[in-house]
Amino acid sequence: MPALLRWGLTLSVALVAIALAYRLQQPLQASSSTAASAAHCYQSVRTHDADRPTAQCFSVLDGVFEDIWVPDVSIAATTGHVIPGLWDGHGHLLQYGEFLHSVDLFGSQSLDEVKGRIKTYLDANPDAGSKDQWLRGVGWDQTFFGRMPTADDIEKDETLNGLYMMLDRIDVHCTWVSRAVLDLLPSDIPDVPGGEIVHDPGMGVFCDNAMDLVLDLWPKPSPEFKTKTVRTAMAKLNEVGLVGMHDAGATPGNLELFSRLADSEDDWTVRVYSMLECDVRNAYCPDDAVKYARDDGRFAVRSVKLFADGALGSWGSAMLEPYADHPWTSGSLLINASALTQVARSWAAAGFQVNIHAIGDLANRNAVNALEAALRDQCPDEDDLAPCQARHRFRIEHSQIIHPDDQRRILAMGIIPSIQPTHATSDMKYAEDRLGPQRLGAEAYRMKSLLSAGPILGSDFPVEPADPFQGIYAAIARKSPHTGLGAHGSKHGWHMDQALSLDEALWGFTGAVAHGGFMDGKAGVIKPGAFADWVVLDEPIESMDIEHLRHMRVRETWVAGRRVYHRKD
Ligand SMILES: *[C@@H]1O[C@H](CO)[C@@H](O)[C@H](O)[C@H]1NC(C)=O
Ligand SMILES: [Zn+2]
Repeated sequence: MPALLRWGLTLSVALVAIALAYRLQQPLQASSSTAASAAHCYQSVRTHDADRPTAQCFSVLDGVFEDIWVPDVSIAATTGHVIPGLWDGHGHLLQYGEFLHSVDLFGSQSLDEVKGRIKTYLDANPDAGSKDQWLRGVGWDQTFFGRMPTADDIEKDETLNGLYMMLDRIDVHCTWVSRAVLDLLPSDIPDVPGGEIVHDPGMGVFCDNAMDLVLDLWPKPSPEFKTKTVRTAMAKLNEVGLVGMHDAGATPGNLELFSRLADSEDDWTVRVYSMLECDVRNAYCPDDAVKYARDDGRFAVRSVKLFADGALGSWGSAMLEPYADHPWTSGSLLINASALTQVARSWAAAGFQVNIHAIGDLANRNAVNALEAALRDQCPDEDDLAPCQARHRFRIEHSQIIHPDDQRRILAMGIIPSIQPTHATSDMKYAEDRLGPQRLGAEAYRMKSLLSAGPILGSDFPVEPADPFQGIYAAIARKSPHTGLGAHGSKHGWHMDQALSLDEALWGFTGAVAHGGFMDGKAGVIKPGAFADWVVLDEPIESMDIEHLRHMRVRETWVAGRRVYHRKD
């Protein structure tokens, strides 16, 4: 152990003792069982509690904050500046774990680079690619290749031919398979409503609903493999300062697995608020629907995930008007408007929070209509639906391209937009081509305009990196956290009228996520009675150069009063 670190640890132990001594001198800090509570003092503590926005010390009892205070006299504190534990408002736990155990294709600039990365992975995982254990990858983007990839691109390579592979596009709305997988399908594949089977320049890519053709054949990972991947995922999430996440869609079987895993304090180090996704997409499946709740807040399910459309990158999002660069199409809905409204009403009646994935302005309109109808059912005697929505907290996941009329309706009802700031900075390279300048300026990637609806911020990992500081940077600077640049290499942020302030962005990754998961006052805040989750940074975030956020490395992450991550250097 380096001398400095050892010195630091000794110092912290001493300081906790000092802090406890100070607490004992303070009559107002009385508590029932000081013996079992642990005190922590730092250089500064940001609380997100309006009654006491900053402090220096807090104590923890049974995984919950007990007291928060500023010592009467100045004390030397543990090095570090505390912020409340961060939450990702929209990620995919299992897919992230699987991603961490698969070929990382993000940023691959060419088909050769894709093949090279697969070969490197195969060197380390020689069993992958068999009939029972397909090789999985995620992150390719055909815009780098100049055309869609095909099964033959893989088959023509001597070392890769014959292997079973399923490689997801960057947005996970298309998958690219090898010849061995393609050969499992009938030679004459029928069209799939709400899906696309790519034929040009050859077979191999399946999008949206057509992905199910392949997924149905994919040998599902075992519970043991899933358990391993969840553990890997949680360790990575803790490393970037995340203490909790909203898991945007898990099947009933996976929810049952999660609920068992959540019993282990050692393995389950991220709080998870999962949205139920029926085995059949967009179904109403009350017989499989189980709600979960735990007093310790480690796992909860009370919401359902529905999907209105696909993604912008593959022209799959459903638009009111045709795409500017593909004028023969306006994308496609995964479910028509009346069926979406019907299924939303059914879930609301069953007591579930309804969260609808919507990217395009047609999908967002249908989502607003569906949620409004569900609210009307729930509160038939209320003219103003806002108080009703405040209780039900229905959400639109992504809320990416929204007609101004529907933005007004979202604000009036208080429907919660769940937004990923890094989607804006990843899409800025093609968004104007897809949408045209007018629609882009008035409708797309809004954050500031939707602020009063309390946007929840997240990353959509593994679609984007899980690091919330990259999301905070993208929200404030509207520039890519990877390059520090705006659209097409500009030094200026992209549509800065929609940028958030640091306080607003941080709230989006803490208090707003807590509200969207019915955990107000329990998560995203440091105050008595809240879950004792916090993150230690080297510098106060308020005075940091914002470019520093792009490369932020947290010092420590604590969940329920236990340290789950500490940086080694
Ligand atoms: C909408 O979809 C449902 C279910 O697939 C179908 O029964 C219904 O006919 C469709 N409605 C319209 C207007 O297309
Ligand atoms: Zn998602």
